[in-house]
Amino acid sequence: MYKLFTTLLVTIATLSVYSQSRETLLLEGWKFTKGAAEGAQDKTFDDSKWQDVTVPHDWAISGPFDKEIDKQVVAIVQNGEQEATEKTGRSGCLPWIGEGWYRTSITIPDGYKYAELVFDGAMSEPHVWVNGQEVGYWAYGYNVFKLDITKATEECKAGTYTMAVHLQNIEESSRWYPGAGIIRPVRLVLHKEKYLTTWGTFARTTMISKISEDATIAAEARVRVTAEATVANHKGIKICNYLKDNNGNIVARQEAWLNESKQVDNVLSIHNARLWSPEHPELYTLVTELREGDTLWDKKETKIGIRDIEYSTEGFKLNGQLRKFKGVCLHHDLGPLGAAFNKAAFRRQIRLLKDIGCDAIRTSHNTPAPWQMEICDEMGMMVMAESFDMWIYPKCKNGYARFFNTIDEGHANSDGKAWWERDITNLVLLNRNYACNIMYSIGNEIPEQNDKVGLQYTRLMQELIHRLDGTRPCTQGMDRGEGPIISGVWQEMDIPGFNYRLHVYQKGYENSPKGFVLGSETASTVSSRGVYKFPVTEERGTAYEDGQISSYDLEACSWSNLPDDDWMWQDKMPWVIGEFVWTGFDYLGEPTPYDEYWPSRSSYFGIYDLAGLPKDRAYLYRTHWNTKENTLHILPHWNWKGREGETTPVFVYTSYPEAELFINGKSQGRLKKYDLTMDEYLKSRINVTMPWGDQYLVPDPSKTLERNRLDRYRMRWNNVTYEPGEMKVVAYDANGNIAETKTIRTAGKPHHIELSVDRKVLSATPTDNNGKATDCPDMAFVTVRIVDKDGNLCPDAENLLKFNVKGAAEFNSCCNGDATSTEVFVRPQMKAFHGELVIVIEAGKTAGEATLAVSGTGLKPAKTAISISE
Ligand code: GAL
Repeated sequence: MYKLFTTLLVTIATLSVYSQSRETLLLEGWKFTKGAAEGAQDKTFDDSKWQDVTVPHDWAISGPFDKEIDKQVVAIVQNGEQEATEKTGRSGCLPWIGEGWYRTSITIPDGYKYAELVFDGAMSEPHVWVNGQEVGYWAYGYNVFKLDITKATEECKAGTYTMAVHLQNIEESSRWYPGAGIIRPVRLVLHKEKYLTTWGTFARTTMISKISEDATIAAEARVRVTAEATVANHKGIKICNYLKDNNGNIVARQEAWLNESKQVDNVLSIHNARLWSPEHPELYTLVTELREGDTLWDKKETKIGIRDIEYSTEGFKLNGQLRKFKGVCLHHDLGPLGAAFNKAAFRRQIRLLKDIGCDAIRTSHNTPAPWQMEICDEMGMMVMAESFDMWIYPKCKNGYARFFNTIDEGHANSDGKAWWERDITNLVLLNRNYACNIMYSIGNEIPEQNDKVGLQYTRLMQELIHRLDGTRPCTQGMDRGEGPIISGVWQEMDIPGFNYRLHVYQKGYENSPKGFVLGSETASTVSSRGVYKFPVTEERGTAYEDGQISSYDLEACSWSNLPDDDWMWQDKMPWVIGEFVWTGFDYLGEPTPYDEYWPSRSSYFGIYDLAGLPKDRAYLYRTHWNTKENTLHILPHWNWKGREGETTPVFVYTSYPEAELFINGKSQGRLKKYDLTMDEYLKSRINVTMPWGDQYLVPDPSKTLERNRLDRYRMRWNNVTYEPGEMKVVAYDANGNIAETKTIRTAGKPHHIELSVDRKVLSATPTDNNGKATDCPDMAFVTVRIVDKDGNLCPDAENLLKFNVKGAAEFNSCCNGDATSTEVFVRPQMKAFHGELVIVIEAGKTAGEATLAVSGTGLKPAKTAISISE
C-alpha cells in the first residue's frame, strides 16, 4: 500500500502544471448607490460619488425602521385570515424596497480562455453587465447562478473590466425581511483552454460496509465521483480523482479516460473510512485533476464527507443508525447583520444550536448560501435544502409566483427553461456534494398541494432532483390537513412532511406508502426573552398591550402547538422521523401575532432571540435534545415587586427526572416527570373547528393546569406565592441522589455591567497582493448583562448603553432581542432589553489588540479585550 502511494506522489510531482482554473472572490472594492442611476451599466459611467461597500452587503439593515415602509392591507391567508386588514412589520419595516446599483472592476490576467461570474445570491432580480454589455439576469434573490462572460471580455483578453449589477425589490414580494443587495459573495472563475466545469463534479458514497454498527468507527467505503470537463476533443484526456484525509494523506485514487460525454466515473475505495455525522463531521478533500499526457490542465478541490442516509419504514438512518431529526427552521437573516452573510455569525448560530442538541436545519424557505453549507459540513449539522415558498399561487402579491413557471426571454443567459427548473437545477448542482445535505425540499405550504396542478409540479420537480442527484430524497412541507392526501401529493413525496397539523399525523401515516411522517415544520411557539405574563395559561394567538409574549412557553399560534405536543408524537410513534421547529432564531419580519401592531418588526418564534440570546425555550429543547449534557433551568426571574403574596408559578426545565423547589428555604414540594400514555394525551385534548374548516385537537382548557402532557417534559410548581429572596431548585438523579442545584435571587438595583465574549481571539481578514479582502471579516459576539452589586442579572434593566471599540477591530452592530424596538442596529448605543444585549465586533485586516468599553448612566462601566491574530 505504502509503495503504491509513494509512486503516485512521484507521478504527481513530475507533471508539468500547465495551467488551472482560478477562482477569485470579489468582496472588496464595490461602489453602491440606492435608487435609479441612468446609464450605470455603461463602462465609462462615473461612480466616484457612490458609497464604497464590501460584499456581502445588505443596504437596508442600517435602517431606520419605519412603519410606512411595508404597510399593507392584506389578509394573511395561510394564517387562516379571511378579511384584509392593515399590517405593518411583515417584512421588517426596514428600507429594502426599491432599486440599487453596484459597480466594481474585474481583472483578467494573461492566458485564460473562458470566464464566468458566480453569484451566491443577490437580492433581488440581479441584472449584470460587463463593460456595458449585458451578460445575464436571475429572478430569485436567494439562488446561486453563473454567467458566462467570455464574450463580454473579448474571449478573456487580459485587462480590467467594469461590472455593473442592478437589483430591484418590489413591494409585497416577500412574507418576511428579504434583505437587499449583494447579500452573498460573487466569484470570478477563469478557465484555461481545457477545464473541469463549474459544478460538474459529483461525489457520492455508494457503499459503506457493515463491519461496524458504530458510525464513529472506521468502515470500508466506496465513493463514486462523476466529473465533467470542457474540451474540444476528449481523446487522450484523463480525469484523475484522489481523496485526501484531513492529515493530507492520499487514501484512495482512481483515474479514467474521458468519454464522449466528456465525463468520467471513478469509484474510490476507502479503507478505514472515517464517516461524517453531526457528532463527528469528518471531511475528506477530493482532488480532481484533468490531464493530457503529462500536462495538468485543471485541478479542483471539493470537500466531501463519507456517509450513508436511508429512509425506510424503520425511520431515518444515518450510517446505519436510526435517529430522529432534532431540527430547526432558519430564516436567512442573521439578526442585526441582516441578510449579508457572515461566516462567523453563522458559525455562532450553529454552535448555539448544537449546544441544545439540535442536529439539523431547514433553510426555510429558500435556497441555502454555499458558505452556509460549507459550515454545516464542517461543524456537523444536517440540512434540508429548501427551494420555494410559493409556486404559481402568490402568497404575497409580488412574490416568486411571478416567475415560477415563466420562461425568461431577452437576456444573455435566457435558455428557454422555466424559472422553477433553472432554480431547482442550480440548487441541486450546487448542493449535491455536501455531506450535510440530507434532503431537498421543493416547497413550503404550497397551496397547490391540494390539486392536480400541485401533483404535476411535485412530480416534475421531484423527478428533476432525482435525475440530478439520485442519492437524496425530496420533501415538501404540507399544511392543508387531509388536502394533500386527497390530491395524492402526500403519497407522491419521497418524504411526506406535515407543517404542524398533528391531528392528521395518524391519517398521514396510514396513507403514507413510505411508512413514515416528518414534522417538516413544528411548534411555532412564541415568546419574548425575559417577559412573563400572569395568570399563567395556555394561549393561542393572544396579543398583549406591550407587544410582547410570555416566556412561560405556553403560547402558540392558532395553527400551531407547544413543543410538548410535537414530542408526544415523536416519542411515542416510531414512524414520526423527527421535526424542524419553527424557528431556531427570531428573524426580521413576520411579527405574529402582532401583524397589526406598531412597533413590532421581528418574529417571536425563535428558541433564541434575534440577538442570539437563549429564551427559556432553549433550555426546554436542551432537556429533550441534548442527551450528552444535563440541563437545569428555572423560570421566571425572581424580581416581582408588586406581586408579593400573589401566585407566581415556577417552571423548571431539566434533564433530571425529579426536583424539589425551595423559596427562601421553604420547600414547595418535590416533583417527578410524568410519562403519560398516548391515550391519556389524546384524552386531554378536545376537537375544535378552525376558521378555515380543519378540525384541530387542542388542549382541554379545563385540564391545563392539572397533571397533563406538560408534566412529561417540564416541572411546574403552579401555586408558588411570590416573596422576594432566594429561589432554589435541587435536582435528583434516577437513583434519588442530589445531582445538581440552581439558585436565583431577587436582584437589587442595577450596579455594574458584565461582558462575556464568545471568542476572545479572532482572525484578521486575509487579503490578496493588492490588500483586498479574500474572505468575510471574523466577528466576536459580546453579551452585555446589567447586574446588581452581587452579580445577579437585573431582569428589568433597560439602561441605555454606549459602546466604544478601539484598536484592531471595529463595532459592527448591536441587538437586544426586543421585537418592538426601533433603535437601529448600527449605532454604537442601545437600551438593554431585560438586562441584556449583544454587541457584534468585527476584526480588521491587521493583527493586534482591540478593546470594547461599555458604559451606561449610573452603572459601573466594563471593558473587555479581543485579540486579532494573523
Ligand atoms: C408557517 C410557515 C412559516 C411561518 C410560520 C409561522 O405556516 O410555513 O413560513 O409563516 O407558519 O407560524
